[in-house]
Amino acid sequence: MTFQTTFPDGFLWGAATASYQIEGAVSEDGRSPCIWDTFAATPGKVLGGESGEVACDHYHRMESDVDLMKDLGLQAYRFSVAWPRVIPTGTGAVNQVGLDFYSRLVDRLLDNGIRPFVTLYHWDLPQVLDDRGGWLDRDIKDWFTDYTAAVVGALGDRVTNWTTLNEPWCSSVLSYAIGAHAPGHTDPAEALVAAHHLSLAHGTAVPVIRELSPGAEVSITLNPTQVHGPDDPDERDVDAVRRADNALNGIFFGPLFHGAYPDGMLEDTAHLTDHSWIHDGDLAVTSAPLDNLGVNNYFPTRVRFSEGARNPMPGCDGVEETPPRPPLTDMGWEISPDSHHDIILRSSKESGLPIYITENGSAWPDEVDADGAVHDPDRTAYLHGHLEAGHRAIKDGADVRGYFAWSLMDNYEWAFGYSKRFGIVHVDYDTQQRTVKDSGQEYARIIAAHQR
Ligand code: FCB
Repeated sequence: MTFQTTFPDGFLWGAATASYQIEGAVSEDGRSPCIWDTFAATPGKVLGGESGEVACDHYHRMESDVDLMKDLGLQAYRFSVAWPRVIPTGTGAVNQVGLDFYSRLVDRLLDNGIRPFVTLYHWDLPQVLDDRGGWLDRDIKDWFTDYTAAVVGALGDRVTNWTTLNEPWCSSVLSYAIGAHAPGHTDPAEALVAAHHLSLAHGTAVPVIRELSPGAEVSITLNPTQVHGPDDPDERDVDAVRRADNALNGIFFGPLFHGAYPDGMLEDTAHLTDHSWIHDGDLAVTSAPLDNLGVNNYFPTRVRFSEGARNPMPGCDGVEETPPRPPLTDMGWEISPDSHHDIILRSSKESGLPIYITENGSAWPDEVDADGAVHDPDRTAYLHGHLEAGHRAIKDGADVRGYFAWSLMDNYEWAFGYSKRFGIVHVDYDTQQRTVKDSGQEYARIIAAHQR
């Protein structure tokens, strides 16, 4: 199974992580609790009640973790900054020690020839801000912009790639309607409000990033998903696909790239809200021009119409999610490189922007073998299949500029705790020992083959 496909010159090879999933050190150097500390401590919310308290202890192992990236030949590293480290009170005073950690990380990456891709928000909202309403409070656009200014003001002389938000769909629909992520609310109307405020916070912060980091590329990372109906759909199935697509994709493609919510979305949600939280001029702010779009994609979604089906996603009454089709990963996620190809092309068309695949990967129940290695052929096969799909998307017209494996190392998989391993590097959580998996070796080989 050698991987033969060659990507265009300049294609960037990276790996990604997120602050809460790897850092640990949750109460060190002035960091305040975030909504995931609270969520994890709430019985029944996270498998085994596990939290990011220690995680991969990356906060204390940052230097050797960057050495590992260097050994793998990574050209770029996508990480996120923890808001509660930088502004522990959510708004107001900056905690210099917290900021210094990221400054050291950026320097170490650059010293090793690795380009930092910095995400400002990957879900660890300071708890103090959730106490003030979190993403439901319109003022969060200013709270987020002030925090952004603190980070970009400190790192903007060295960082050339900024991402405002990671997967705002998860911070809104999954967190406020479905309830599976912090803060765990189950109100579809709230999800709409949160989604709007996320887009607004993003758009408000974009010009501030441009001002403080001139010449840098500014982006957002979405998690668009290809929505499939049944093989033999009737009219109502087609409408179910449309509604699901609006709630999954259009909810952000619209405000970010078209200055409007997608067709039918406001009508389909009129029984939930009067939409008075959309103020005049908001959609001009949310559609601030960007330099590229980050796409995180793992699996497609399948739906059909079902009379009376209750679906927590806003505007999705009668939309029933149908089971994924095998093969599945350890997350139960459908493996479909074709859907990956299609959603890349769709994202390219909707945005008109260059695309970075900012996350893609798969979880498997890996173990360190008696020979000391981690043999994970399923992850390698998934990697090959999805890289090939991305390559086909380039041939079909998408301007895909790079790929970031999720994840550099096994880490805290949110509501699944430490039970799901996504790394190309294995982490033994008792010893914090890192072991490059076979898939990591293969990824390093593919990167090296592109250097020649
Ligand atoms: C994405 C998240 C990332 C990780 C992967 C598996 O939705 O952005 O943090 O959990 O899924």
